[in-house]
Amino acid sequence: MTTDSTSLKLKKVVPDAEDFLPILGTDFVELYVGNAKQAAFYYQHAWGFQPVAFSGMETGNKNSVSYVLQQGKIRLVLTSPLKPGGDINRHIDKHGDGVKFVALWVDDARKSYEETTKRGAKSYAEPYVMEDKNGKAVISGIHTYGETIHLFVERGDYNGPFLPGYREWKTKASADDTGLQYIDHMVGNVGWNEMNKWVDFYARVMGFAQLVSFDDKDISTDYTALMSKVMSNGNGRIKFPINEPAEGKKKSQIEEYIDFYNGAGVQHIALATDNIIETVSALRDRGVEFLHVPETYYDDLLDRVGEIDEKLEPLKELGVLVDRDDEGYLLQIFTKPVLDRPTMFFEIIQRKGAQSFGKGNFKALFEAIEREQELRGTLN
Ligand SMILES: [Fe+2]
Repeated sequence: MTTDSTSLKLKKVVPDAEDFLPILGTDFVELYVGNAKQAAFYYQHAWGFQPVAFSGMETGNKNSVSYVLQQGKIRLVLTSPLKPGGDINRHIDKHGDGVKFVALWVDDARKSYEETTKRGAKSYAEPYVMEDKNGKAVISGIHTYGETIHLFVERGDYNGPFLPGYREWKTKASADDTGLQYIDHMVGNVGWNEMNKWVDFYARVMGFAQLVSFDDKDISTDYTALMSKVMSNGNGRIKFPINEPAEGKKKSQIEEYIDFYNGAGVQHIALATDNIIETVSALRDRGVEFLHVPETYYDDLLDRVGEIDEKLEPLKELGVLVDRDDEGYLLQIFTKPVLDRPTMFFEIIQRKGAQSFGKGNFKALFEAIEREQELRGTLN
């Protein structure tokens, strides 16, 4: 992979962000999973991710196996252990399948490590060099919420398929992509009264700034509530909303997540498309399951959001939600959890000017999630 990072020094769009790192984008998201081979098949054939690279026994990795898949700029790594014991097995035993690494692409992994650890970040990995015939990469890492890790990845002029130690991976059967382009935002669920601690972490340790906050009045139904604050880096490429549960009559989806994940972790990954109708149609046809809102959601939709370019009928048929802010509108839809435990899910989002997160849809969405919780017997 060749990267001309100097051309990507983006202008600052979030003025309050100190942005001393700086971060060029999300490099990859790595999940620890029970069966990476089958997970890779799911992301390839249901989601349209393309096979990129592989690490395992054939590449000299005796302890674990990793598959790398990519669509647009979104790179997923799926990792499973090959032997009993060790940290990956322990992680899967405790959390089920889930996101272990949110890797951030930087110019200088050593400086990123120094700047964040001197501001109080807990070290995960001191900077180290990975090297093979395709070049060098430097990686370092710090802890964030739960057992989630931020890696800093400096690719320099690395020209291999992914990172040193990986080799190209091809499959015989291919699947078309589904129009997914980049990670719009990644949301973390944290425990009771922990939101501000992690908001402060992203501000102080990472140089991020707060974009918006939602309290339990914004995000509540008759039964459940949560609070959320959105943190962004200076160039706006990295947006991390942080959720915590709030007191409601019944158990909220955040508490359900924390119970099943056994702690804080990544709740959802929002993937951007520039044609949500085509993307969601393709995903649905291949078996990806989405949350459905009642048809009445669409009765007064255009009164609420004004004129939109899309026809109402396909949005209604697919269950795509619409919200408007001062700058434009957005279209969004959420999958059901993609793992056996009711933990992580995906959002598909198409922005048409709006830079917000769909506040107007929170209530309809939460009620849809409550209906799913009811079926699981976790809405108590
Ligand atoms: Fe989201």
